[in-house]
Amino acid sequence: MTIRLPGLADVHAHLRVPGGEHKEDFGSGTAAALAGGFTTVLAMPNTSPPLVTADLLRRVQQQANAEALCDVHLYAGASPAHTDELPALGRAAVALKIYLNETFGPLRVTDLSTLLACFRHWPIGKPIAMHAEGPGVAVGLGLAAAFGRPVHICHVSRASEIALIAAAKARGVPVTCEVTPHHLFLTQANVPRLGPLGDMRPPLAEPADVAALWAHIDTAIDCVATDHAPHTLAEKHSENPPPGVPGLETALPLMLTAVADGRLTLDRLVALLAQNPRRIFHLPEQPDTWVEIDPAASYQLSNEGLLTKCGWTPFAGMTVRGRVQRVVLRGKLVFEDGKVRSDRDVRQRHSQDKGGRS
Ligand code: NCD
Ligand code: ZN
Repeated sequence: MTIRLPGLADVHAHLRVPGGEHKEDFGSGTAAALAGGFTTVLAMPNTSPPLVTADLLRRVQQQANAEALCDVHLYAGASPAHTDELPALGRAAVALKIYLNETFGPLRVTDLSTLLACFRHWPIGKPIAMHAEGPGVAVGLGLAAAFGRPVHICHVSRASEIALIAAAKARGVPVTCEVTPHHLFLTQANVPRLGPLGDMRPPLAEPADVAALWAHIDTAIDCVATDHAPHTLAEKHSENPPPGVPGLETALPLMLTAVADGRLTLDRLVALLAQNPRRIFHLPEQPDTWVEIDPAASYQLSNEGLLTKCGWTPFAGMTVRGRVQRVVLRGKLVFEDGKVRSDRDVRQRHSQDKGGRS
């Protein structure tokens, strides 16, 4: 059986350009995106150097346009030293990312005056996304309420956070949020087995937190986003392992498994992975674009055959139901049977067709 879904949009991925190309690049990251049913990816600005000036952001966007296999839009990073760049950055970026908490890379905002500058000078109509953990969520909600402008809270992972967001939404605060598949399918109980491959920001939580996220999957949660954060196995097994796990290739099979298990409907999956991301981030339409899946295919996720450069997944060994068979982007077959169709492949197939291949 084959079902057609719209092209998915991931609003939180790290494609590592510039400066982290040994972990991922626009070619490998968007190949992984297509393998996972994503035709639009929003790339995070915690690169080296980070995307905090309009000049750099424009250059990197041009590189993405030349090298990516699907649509890539770039976040700008908020930085205390570059608040004067905010209006120009706002013209070039899809959204602003503010990091309130410690994570991979040096981007951080810890002072209120930089936060105020962001909310005053970031263009109205362009989203502001926040990495805000624990009490930081209240900071984001307070700013959304005070300035009356939408805030998107990244990778919500705890019961208390989703409870606060639900309460703020009930009061009419303009807030949206995302959760990641790893926070929906893994807990602290998996950490002894996974070791550094189970370490990310926010860290994996307790079963009660995971239950609270699932309890809000039809209501307070707006998006499922991967937080695809590839690091090499050598880096993850080093003395000072960086936080982060890849996720572009596993998000859709995991969420389809949840549909098969009756935890959400297929319509809700499409809202979380395609419609809401496109609406919240004002993403352009992709005409003649769809993903064909076999919802009945049952198989084990594996490190073998992944298209992300890092070559591993924290979900290896997990049995899932639902496989991406084919991806069509703007009328062109770009992914089929586990492989990206390059322009050359497509051209060759067309000329063979004309030559009367049976
Ligand atoms: C991300 C990374 O590696 O860039 N790591 C992570 O653990 N999520 C940074 C981030 O999104 O916080
Ligand atoms: Zn991230």
